[in-house]
Parts: sequence; C-alpha cells; structure tokens
Amino acid sequence: MSELALLGGQPVRSEPYPRWPVFDDAEIQSITKTVLSGRWGGSPHPGPNTVEFATKFSELIGGGIAVPMINGTITMEVALRAAGIGWGDKVIVPAYTFQATAAAPMAAGAIPVIVDISPDSYCIDPIAVERAITSKTKAIIVVHIAAQMADMDAVMDIAKAHNLIVIEDAAHAHGACWRGMGSGTIGDFGSFSLHSAKIITTGEGGVLLCKDEEMAELAASIIDCGRAKDPEKVNFTMGVNYRWSELHAALGLVALERFPEQMAQRSQMADYLEECLSEIPGIRLLKRDPRLTRRSLYRYIFNIDTEHFGCNNDTFSFAMVAEGIPFDTGYPPMHRYHLFQPQLSKLAVPAAFPEFFDFDAMSFPVTETASEKESIWMSESIFRSGRQGIEDLVRGIQKLERNRDKLPQIAEDYAVQVETINQNTKMLKRGVKKA
Ligand SMILES: Cc1ncc(COP(=O)(O)O)c(C=O)c1O
Repeated sequence: MSELALLGGQPVRSEPYPRWPVFDDAEIQSITKTVLSGRWGGSPHPGPNTVEFATKFSELIGGGIAVPMINGTITMEVALRAAGIGWGDKVIVPAYTFQATAAAPMAAGAIPVIVDISPDSYCIDPIAVERAITSKTKAIIVVHIAAQMADMDAVMDIAKAHNLIVIEDAAHAHGACWRGMGSGTIGDFGSFSLHSAKIITTGEGGVLLCKDEEMAELAASIIDCGRAKDPEKVNFTMGVNYRWSELHAALGLVALERFPEQMAQRSQMADYLEECLSEIPGIRLLKRDPRLTRRSLYRYIFNIDTEHFGCNNDTFSFAMVAEGIPFDTGYPPMHRYHLFQPQLSKLAVPAAFPEFFDFDAMSFPVTETASEKESIWMSESIFRSGRQGIEDLVRGIQKLERNRDKLPQIAEDYAVQVETINQNTKMLKRGVKKA
C-alpha cells in the first residue's frame, strides 16, 4: 500500500483546521444591546454603531473616510459612481481576482478592461496597465491578492500621469501596509469586504474608504437613496438603498477588537510556514517585496514546479485534501467566468460593447499559468492552527514530494471536477475516480 492517503495510506492530519469566524459572548452581548435598543436598520443613515465602526475602521487601517455599506462589491460600484465614471468608460482590472472586481464596473455601466498580473506578486502588472490605457480609460482597480499587495508606487505614478482614479480592492488585505501606508488608503478609494470568510467579518458587509471628503459624502448619499448628507448643499445623486444594518455593525465593533491579535498570530505562523516550505524541493514561494511592510493573511499562495511533481495544481491540491490539508486552486482566469460571456450573462455592457468581450481572443499567460497549473491556495485558518497545524501541512507536502512518482498516475485516474453551479464563484475542485 502506498503512503499517500489517496491510495489508501494514513492521512497526515485528521483534526480539522480551526473554524471561522471566531466568536464568544462578546458578539452575543453586542448584538443583544443593539436588539434591545430597537435601532436595527441603517435608516436614518448612518446609525450610531455604523458611525462608531467607521471611525474605528479607518483608525485601524490607517486613514481615509470610511463609508460602510452592504458588501465589498457594491463598494467598488459606488466608488466609480461617486467619481462620475459610467456608461462606456473603461476601467482596467486584473485577470486574477474574484469576479466582483470586474462585475462592479459593469454594474456602473463601465467596461472592464482585463490585463495580466505580475509573476512576482500575482497582482496587476503595471506595464500591462500602461499598455491598456486609451482616451476612454477612467480608472484602475488593483487587487491586493492573498498575502501580496500590488506595486502601488508604479500604479499611482501611472494614474497621476493619465489622470485616472485608483480603487484598491482590499478584500484580501485588511491591515496590510505598503511602505507603512495602509492598504486601501493609497489610491482614491479602498474597497473592503466583510463577508463571512473575510478576516474582519460581520457575515455580510463592506467598507469604502475615501481619500476625499466630497467623494465620501457622495458615496454616503448614493447608498442612502440619494439623500443629501449636508443640508447646506444639494448634491443630487442617483442613489438606492445599499445601507448597512446596525446589527451588522454590532458584530463589526467586536471584530475590530479581535483583529490585531489575530493578525499578529497569522503573520508569525506565515513566517514559520515560509521557513519550512523554502526547504522543500519543487516548491516556489512568491517574491516578498520589501515595500510590503505588513502582510495580511486572508489567503496565501505558493507555487509548485509541475515538472518536479509530475502533475498540476488540481491534482496536487486534491491529493493534499485527502491528507487532511484543505488546499485549493483559487480563482479561474477572469475571462473564463461565465458572467463575462455575453451570450450567457445577457448583461447590458457586454451586449452594447461586444468587441471588449471577445474572450476567445484574449490571453493572460501569467494568470493562466498560476490558475491552471502552478498556484496552490490556502486559507487564513491554517495560520491560526499553531505550529502543529503548519507542521502537519509541511509533512503532507513532504509526503507528496517523496511519492511524486505516483502523482502522474493519480492525474490520469482521477478527473478533477469543478464543483460549482457555474464559474462565477471560486472553483471548488473534487476528484472523481474515473470508471
Ligand atoms: C478580491 C475580492 N473582491 C471583492 C469581493 C467581494 O466582496 P463581497 O462578497 O463582500 O461582495 C471579494 C469577496 O470574496 C473578493 O475576494
């Protein structure tokens, strides 16, 4: 019998990794207090919990005016609307990200122009950004993916030279810092998700950090059905109800208190993981840019040498899941998401501008290699599992490495299937033994 769990051996770990979110009586008390106050919703906007959360959130991140709202997708749509970006304007987005980064411009009526990522960071490639700029380009959305940050020095220089708005999609990067500056505070806007899996979570929710007071006022008006936020000014805005509730904010206030300690713990364990991984043949870590002065560990990506292991990331992560280590392979390249296929999505923007949605003609080699061959993703919970959790993971990879001669056959024998309704969500892959 082989050592590998997939072939009947003993898995390296039987205990699950710690669950998320973490909570105790503090959340229950905060929610109870809000329930008893009778002030549950977001109207009149903003409510007291939301105001307190907004102040504490921007203090924690290190700047900006925080406008909480219902999620971390609407945040980007609202930022674009506040900046006057809409129908037919172009917004540059990276090919390696969750669909929200490109869905938000479409919801605002703009065309997402997809560009490739840098092989060092897996964040947007500034050279590709510069090449994609035309007279119609109005904004760049960068994504600080996994434990990385985009090269904000280069992106801000390009934006300045071409008079473009910069939105930082910091859904993965609460608390990360670029040369000491908080992620989400460098561009014109920072967009944060507070969705259940995120490292500051309230179940659902989002925060838009705005650099400029007028933009923050417009954003607050847009999410509150267009109501003016300054009685002295009549700022007509097209708005709808994207308000956040006081019950969500009650959870958020506790989450903010928990965050610094959780962040330090994850960061310490990520350093330990890297120390261990750097000694395993066939494993390649992403580069660590010295300007990334503080990392945030929502997700973590490393790469495998497909020649060395004789398989791609699907088979590798599938074999690791059998060992009790919850790896996955992250996002598909953006142009494969069904949402952006005009014939499937039937959305107004792809229908009106089909020339920008000819995905068969598009190619993003760095993203495709990362997504479909080399990159392995893991979640924040691994970094809360102590040294034992990290060591189990490392033992699992070492086991695969020792048994790598078996992996090509496993790839042959198992069809690794995408187990989602469509490709608009992160791919969860499961191996199914071929008949
Ligand atoms: C990179 C990125 N951007 C945006 C979002 C959207 O956030 P939400 O689910 O709060 O709308 C997510 C959520 O998974 C994300 O990972």
